[in-house]
Amino acid sequence: MKTVSLIKQPIDFEMELFEKKFLLSMSSKVSLLNRITHYVVNRKGKQMRPMFVFLIAKMVNNGEVNERTYRGASVIELIHTATLVHDDVVDESHKRRGFFSVNALWKNKIAVLVGDYLLSKGLLLSIDNGDFDLLKIISVAVREMSEGELLQIEKARKLDITETVYYEIIRKKTATLIAACCAMGAQSVSVAKEEVNLMREFGELIGMAFQIKDDLFDYGEEKIGKPTGIDIKEQKMTLPLIYALNNCSKNEKSWLINAIKNHNKDKKIVKEIIQLVKEKDGLNYAVIKMKEFQAQALSILEKYPESPYKKSLQLMVNYVIERKK
Ligand code: IPE
Ligand code: IPE
Ligand code: MG
Ligand code: MG
Repeated sequence: MKTVSLIKQPIDFEMELFEKKFLLSMSSKVSLLNRITHYVVNRKGKQMRPMFVFLIAKMVNNGEVNERTYRGASVIELIHTATLVHDDVVDESHKRRGFFSVNALWKNKIAVLVGDYLLSKGLLLSIDNGDFDLLKIISVAVREMSEGELLQIEKARKLDITETVYYEIIRKKTATLIAACCAMGAQSVSVAKEEVNLMREFGELIGMAFQIKDDLFDYGEEKIGKPTGIDIKEQKMTLPLIYALNNCSKNEKSWLINAIKNHNKDKKIVKEIIQLVKEKDGLNYAVIKMKEFQAQALSILEKYPESPYKKSLQLMVNYVIERKK
């Protein structure tokens, strides 16, 4: 069986019901909005975030979930979808999940508004049901994600990023939401605060590995359903490049900085940048760091007794770094 089907096995029932609820959670009376949200939902992603919500909830609560767990999963996926719609505007990216992005088809104005709509639908789903504890978890994530994306833009302008700041950016823009998924799964079934925090920590670690993997994809040529090689175009300096910059000669460093600053849209130069990053072992270094986060995440799971949910989470942690898209 394929890894993803294996992972999903203990939550098959929940994921199927989730998809129906998720679709309903987006509906609007405005037909243009419905058309666009249907377009987005029909090109569904890996749905890793709701999977985390259900697997964690079941692991910490003897295999039981409740309506709050479903709402929590929907809120997270709504927020995730909203940030992708916005992110493609920010990154001027025209491909998402193998199809045109919302901004590519309907232009930026509409994409910004659709993202806002999805965000508000997510928040209202919690408010209307009195899930204020879940709302708190998600709102912190939303704030941090915006800060992360802005910090990234600031660093792309100044080109003065360090490895520490890189970790801060990816923790905020990506790991926080996965941390929220795991905290949400636990909180939805009302376990003790310490356990919610432990699950948050687990999610944050795996979220770090997840974004390093995403940044590695950008250096590859595999078909992943979205453009590759665009981080350099956007002057986004990710871990492989940061490592290369710290481990090359003075001349190479000034060449790199100048190339990223002034020739980042020149395909030939971008190829040369990628080549230099590879020569300087930037990709290998990023893989090592990614695996460190993975190992830390796995060690948290060790504290739990064996169960199908724990098994799936272990598979999922490995899937994050071995996935092909
Ligand atoms: C993409 O997330 C955005 C990042 C944080 C890198 P996913 O890779 O989970 O996106 P989908 O939902 O599967 O398309
Ligand atoms: C992902 O950053 C973080 C988000 C908040 C969406 P990226 O810009 O690297 O994500 P992709 O590669 O477009 O999915
Ligand atoms: Mg992007
Ligand atoms: Mg990316």
